[in-house]
Amino acid sequence: MPKRIADLRSDTVTRPDSPMYAAMVSATVGDDIHGDDPSVNELQERFASLVGKEAALFVPSGSMGNSIAITAWTRRGDEVIIPSECHIFRYECGSASFLAGVELVEVDSSTGAPDPAEVRRRYKSGGFHSSRSSLLTFENTHNYRGGLVSPKCLQEEAAAFARENGMQIHMDGARLWNASIATGQSMAELCSVSDSVMCCLSKGLGCPVGSLLAGPADFIGEAKRLRKIFGGAMRQAGVLAGAGLYAIGHNFSRLVEDHTRAKRLAATLGELPWAELDLEMVHTNIVIAQVPSKQAQLVQELAEKRGVRLFALNDYEIRLVTHKDVDDADIDHAVDVLASLKVTT
Ligand SMILES: Cc1ncc(COP(=O)(O)O)c(C=O)c1O
Repeated sequence: MPKRIADLRSDTVTRPDSPMYAAMVSATVGDDIHGDDPSVNELQERFASLVGKEAALFVPSGSMGNSIAITAWTRRGDEVIIPSECHIFRYECGSASFLAGVELVEVDSSTGAPDPAEVRRRYKSGGFHSSRSSLLTFENTHNYRGGLVSPKCLQEEAAAFARENGMQIHMDGARLWNASIATGQSMAELCSVSDSVMCCLSKGLGCPVGSLLAGPADFIGEAKRLRKIFGGAMRQAGVLAGAGLYAIGHNFSRLVEDHTRAKRLAATLGELPWAELDLEMVHTNIVIAQVPSKQAQLVQELAEKRGVRLFALNDYEIRLVTHKDVDDADIDHAVDVLASLKVTT
């Protein structure tokens, strides 16, 4: 067993530290289904104001937040235009069709935003023969594009077309916190382009559980009903909201450290003969490198044996994610291990 383990598989692997546990233990609680939990209410109000929306709802997971938003904004049989390779499409078990009864239409997102020209091309106005495009989504940062900050000007162009055609806009902002730190723009500025936004507390902010969905008050009213239908209404959830309030206050601004460490990892990988990546595309805490020899699984196995946990996304791509529970010494260790791996080119 290696002495040091740097777990770079995801920023979801963090564990609450002592001050976060203390905040959870001291949180005042009540029955949240009755709206009586002061900590949940405070968290929802704080988040709504942070993202500049009328109201917010605490939900158990980011996937549930996205599913609720899609269901609330659409009718069964509608189409949702999404950025290619987005989390909603790749990693949410088909929930958009399973729960909301909608079809997903992927458009190119190599920049991190859905391509506005393709949004225009793929839009369907509905009618007797065709379905109706009723929702456009963004993902910021874009997980599978290596944590890219989605360019606001492209989002605005796509959003302007969507609005002219009566569509709503939802942002999967699981890591909008990271986009805010990377760009210096506020959370509210970054999601002013969308009607609703979902952000996770359980990623870079280091909470054990929880995400938040925000939008207009009537949308959040409907979201609350859907949360109950989906089995996500909770009782004394203030113990979790306590962690969320602590995280927003203490773990948000520190994300800059994760971004610096990700750049260091990327610089190392960029020098290795068996890996390829574009340093310019590393904006936040996610590093995706190509392994052209298709030995990504081998890289994962070899690194694991030496105490570096990373994630082979498929045969030719590896992903490393920095977070609160990896420090500079872990990055030193990861850099040494990666540089010494024997992988053919
Ligand atoms: C971009 C993005 N959206 C949504 C989610 C879903 O969050 P959860 O795992 O809390 O369901 C994730 C999780 O990794 C994500 O990366």
